Amino acid sequence: MVKTYNQGSNPNMRRPVVKEEIVTLMREQQAQNKGHLKVLETFAKEHNIPIIPHETAVYFRWLLESIQPKKILEIGTAIGFSALLMADSAKASQITTIERNPEMIALAKENFAQYDERGQITLVEGDAVDLLTRLDETYDLVFMDSAKSKYIVFLPEVLKHLSLGGLVVIDDVFQGGDVALPLEEIKRGQRAIYRGLHRLFDATLDNPGLTASLLPLGDGLLLLRKTADEVVLPD
Ligand SMILES: C[S@@+](CC[C@H](N)C(=O)[O-])C[C@H]1O[C@@H](n2cnc3c(N)ncnc32)[C@H](O)[C@@H]1O
Repeated sequence: MVKTYNQGSNPNMRRPVVKEEIVTLMREQQAQNKGHLKVLETFAKEHNIPIIPHETAVYFRWLLESIQPKKILEIGTAIGFSALLMADSAKASQITTIERNPEMIALAKENFAQYDERGQITLVEGDAVDLLTRLDETYDLVFMDSAKSKYIVFLPEVLKHLSLGGLVVIDDVFQGGDVALPLEEIKRGQRAIYRGLHRLFDATLDNPGLTASLLPLGDGLLLLRKTADEVVLPD
C-alpha cells in the first residue's frame, strides 16, 4: 500500500486559476523533469505530498539559471524537491531550507543524502516562526512555500535577511481563486488564510520599497524584489 502523508491537499491540482487546457499544455509540453527530480516528482504524486507543480518548476529553472543566486533560503522543504531543483539550477548556490514536519524531515534527509551531490543544501529542522529570527545570514533569494496565512507573519524577518535587489518568491497565493472573492463568500475555515493573503497583498503590491508582481503559475506566485534598504510594512 502506498503511504499518504497528512500534508493537506494541493489546491492547484484541482482548481487551476488559468484555463485547464493551458495548465495541461504547460505541464505536458514544457521539458519534463529528469533523473532524481523525476523520481521525487513521481514519489510526491503517489504519496499525496504537495510540491511545486510542473509549470512552477519550469519557471524556477529558468529564473535560477538566469540570476544564479549565491545564497538561498527556503521555508517549507517537504521532501526536498524544490531545494534540489534550485541546487541543480544554480550549482554554485548554498541553500538553507526549513521544515518542521518530522516525516518530511526524514524523507528530505534521505533525499539530500542521496541527491545533493555538491553538498549545497542545509536542512534546518523546526518551525520557521522560531528559526527566522535566529538566522544570521543574508540571502539573494527567499522561497516561501509553507502555511499561507503565515506569509505575512514571516515577511518582516525575511526582508531583514534579504540583500538589496534580492528576490522573494511566495507560492500558492491565489487560494484556488477564492482570494478574488468577497470575504462573505469564503468558507469560515478558509478565512484566516484569505485574510492573511490580503494583508500580504496590501503590504507588498504597491510598497515603495519593493517591486512586486503576481504570476498565475500553479496556485499563483507573488514575486518581490527589494529595492530599498529599509522596507516599511504596515502594522
Ligand atoms: C508545499 S510543502 C513544500 C514543498 C516544497 N517546497 C517543494 O516544492 O518541493 C510545505 C511544507 O512546509 C512545511 N511548513 C509549513 N509551515 C511551516 C513552518 N511554520 N515552519 C517550517 N515548515 C513549515 C510543511 O510541513 C510542508 O512540508
